[in-house]
Amino acid sequence: MTKKKIILMASGSGSNVQQIYEYFKNSDAVEIAMIITNKQNAGVIARMEYAKIPILWIPKQYLNSEDFIELLKTADLIVLAGFLLKIPEQMAQVFDKKIINIHPSLLPKYGGKGMYGHFVHEAVIQNKEKESGITIHYVNQHYDEGQIIAQFQCEINDTDTPETLSKKIQNLEHLHFPKTIEMILMGV
Ligand code: GRF
Repeated sequence: MTKKKIILMASGSGSNVQQIYEYFKNSDAVEIAMIITNKQNAGVIARMEYAKIPILWIPKQYLNSEDFIELLKTADLIVLAGFLLKIPEQMAQVFDKKIINIHPSLLPKYGGKGMYGHFVHEAVIQNKEKESGITIHYVNQHYDEGQIIAQFQCEINDTDTPETLSKKIQNLEHLHFPKTIEMILMGV
């Protein structure tokens, strides 16, 4: 059986990339074919060196290039795990339902341009929300607006701060993102 290939794209520390890698590293059905980053000094590069997977740095202006699109076509699923650049419209069209993203809020709340990382958690705490969570969704050309695949919630209590909420959200991401990817790839 040929393995399903995942290409992971990340701009940050890569803790989700690592979780996904660890989840699938002994799988007979799924392989992480490549990690792509747009930041030359992204934490994900040093973090994932041990995995001996090709890591490619792609400057923003090449995102839409033909060669890059051809490279992405070798994957069954492209997973954005903290990838902060907007996916160009043409690319979103070519890869309709082939690119997924994880967002650290319950979309459509707290999504869109500028809503990433601590900005999300600060806004959620400021608004005294009683719950937050994560959203895994297909990517289209608009930030955080593609079809939702799965959401997972956590409670917020009075003592929570953006930092403690961020930890809860990260735990949810690490627990659910790899399993959700597996479900998508297996078509369940
Ligand atoms: C995650 O919170 C994810 O929701 C967001 O970017 C963050 C990436 O974190 N899209 P890490 O680099 O995987 O630690």
